[in-house]
Order: sequence, then structure tokens, then C-alpha cells
Amino acid sequence: QKGGYKHFMLKEIFEQPKVVTDCLAGRVDWAREEVTLPELAALPVPKRLHIVACGTSLHAGMWGKHLLESWAKVPVSVEIASEFRYRDILLDPEDMVLVISQSGETADTLAGLRIAREKGVKVAGLCNVVGSSIAREADAVIYTQAGPEISVASTKAMCSQMVLLTLLALYWGRRKATLADDVRHEALSALRKLPGQLESALPGMRDEAQQLARTYSKARSFFYLGRGHCFPLALEGALKLKEISYIHAEGYASGEMKHGPIALIDPEFPTFALALADDLFPKVKSNIEEVQARRGKVIALTNPGVEVRVDNPWVVPAAWGPLAAFIALPALQLFSYEAADYLGKDVDQPRNLAKSVTVE
Ligand code: M6R
Repeated sequence: QKGGYKHFMLKEIFEQPKVVTDCLAGRVDWAREEVTLPELAALPVPKRLHIVACGTSLHAGMWGKHLLESWAKVPVSVEIASEFRYRDILLDPEDMVLVISQSGETADTLAGLRIAREKGVKVAGLCNVVGSSIAREADAVIYTQAGPEISVASTKAMCSQMVLLTLLALYWGRRKATLADDVRHEALSALRKLPGQLESALPGMRDEAQQLARTYSKARSFFYLGRGHCFPLALEGALKLKEISYIHAEGYASGEMKHGPIALIDPEFPTFALALADDLFPKVKSNIEEVQARRGKVIALTNPGVEVRVDNPWVVPAAWGPLAAFIALPALQLFSYEAADYLGKDVDQPRNLAKSVTVE
């Protein structure tokens, strides 16, 4: 069942090229450069979108917000489901709630869906499990088609959610005519290239992750830093590390470091920085220098041609714009996988956790 891999988590990380291909299948007309999401055709583009989710699915939503706002010009709020359900939330009939859930059974996310429907707001569900409670109760459901995810740590599901959020931003951007043709062209070409890029990059990324995990797995704490669309990735990297290796990790927006957290930095407290080749790189670089000035060790995940002087630069292939996240994500997953495996932890069944959180 594990297809020759030591753990389901590793198998699922390596399935991501296929996940991207399957998510795109039938949803893009490559010749006309058009995205079709028939599941949403009957619903108007919302005035505002409220994304409601937990854990890794929440991080996917936070990442998707950047694309939806920039390409489709739909204002997006991203809510932790367990907060959303108990807040006096302001919903307009022209808004939409998008619940994101791999399992489709997460209790808080399901409760968020029910509250939104009671208030008369349309709810779309982004789910992996066919026929799950969320899929059945939503007004419209988009399936992520990632195949069964067995490992408690969610990996390929996030990748599939990100593909669908990218398609959604392109789809609504086209419907609202807010998306420039060149952006759509670049985004679709980058999406098309992704499976091949991932396929060839993953084995080398695993070797690099293994080396780094050996060096760093004795750390008791880690910071993960990112800016812009890389901030949700920093949160996800930290979640993955703590979830399966039990190393304490915090994800921060890089610019927040100097508002408190930097006090923790010393030679024993390393930082994993997302330093991809984008407009925010100069800012990230200066945040890295602030960490180094406190003698903190740094792993910087970066792209070819980017000059970043750190203890461990980790160069992964570049991809256009925010789609670079699809290559950064498996690097984060592989680093935590290798750390947990090196430390002898039960990777697929971490302590205290269940695959699907069906109670509050
Ligand atoms: O099934 P869901 O996507 O609703 O699950 C949400 C979270 O429980 C889940 O992503 C959790 O954070 C993962 N174990 C993280 O790896």
C-alpha cells in the first residue's frame, strides 16, 4: 500500500506531481487559456469571500487569499473555523463562504458551513473526500481529487487545495474581467509546467532535506519566516515540524520578528526562512540579517540566482509568481518528514492526533 515508500507521508509528498495533473484535468482549456469550474457556474462571483478552515486547510486558504484578491479583486477574509462559529460574524447575502477541508468532516468547519447557510449565505466546499458531510451540505462542492490521504500530516491535500484556489482566482478573474491577459497566460503556463518540475525536483529535494534534518533535528525550537504569500507557508512549515517531530516551531510573518519573537534567537534557536525570488526578497533578506546579528543559524529556501548568505542555502527550482509556493511546499514537508524519521518518531500516526477531527 505504501508503494515501496517507508511511510504514507513520504508517498503522499511524492504524489504531488500527479495531484497537480489530476486537479487540472478537465478544468483548463489550454488552447483558449480558459478555466472552467462548472460547480460554480450557477453562483454569482461573491461581493466578499469568507474562507473557513482549520490547520493545513486554513493555511491553503491564507495562501489563496493573495491570488483571489489580486486576480479576481474579491475581498477575502480567512477565518479559523473554531473562531468563526462563535463570533458575531457579519455576512451579506451577496457574500460567499468557502469551507476548505480535506476530510470534509472537521467538526468546526462543518459548524461554520451550517451557520453560514442558516444566515442565508451561499457556501461552497473545497473537499477531498467524496460524499463527506461538508460535500453533502454545501451549496456547491469542488473536489480536490487528490486521492486518499492516509498520513495524519496533510501534504498532498494542501497542494490540491492550492491548485483549486489558483483556478478559482483565474476563473473569477475572467468572469469579472479583472485579470490581465498576460497574468492569466503566465499563470496557466506555470501551472502546466508544474508536474514535470516537481517530478524532477523531488528526489534531489529529499536528499537535501535529509542532510539538513541531520544537522538540525537536535534543535529544541525553530522559527519559520515568510512574507506575502510565503507567510502561510511559514505557518505550514512550522505546523508540519511540530506535528510529526515534536520540535517546537513557530511560523511568523518576517516583519513581525522585531516586535517580540527575535528576543528568543540565539545560536541554539535556528530559523527556516522562505527567501524565494520575488519582490519581497530584499525585505526578507534584511530580516535574515537581523536573525544573524543575534547569532541565529539560518536555513534559507531560495531560488537559483538569488544571493543569500546563510549557514544553509537550499536552492529549489523557481516557478512564476506565487506559483513558486508549489515547489517550496514539498521542501517544507520533506524537511519535517526527514527530521521526524531521523528522530525515530511515528511519522504517519503522531501522538495525540487524529486524521479527522470530528469533535470540537
Ligand atoms: O480534514 P481537514 O482538512 O478539515 O483537516 C483540518 C486539520 O485538522 C488538518 O489539516 C490538520 O491540521 C493536519 N493534521 C495538519 O497536517
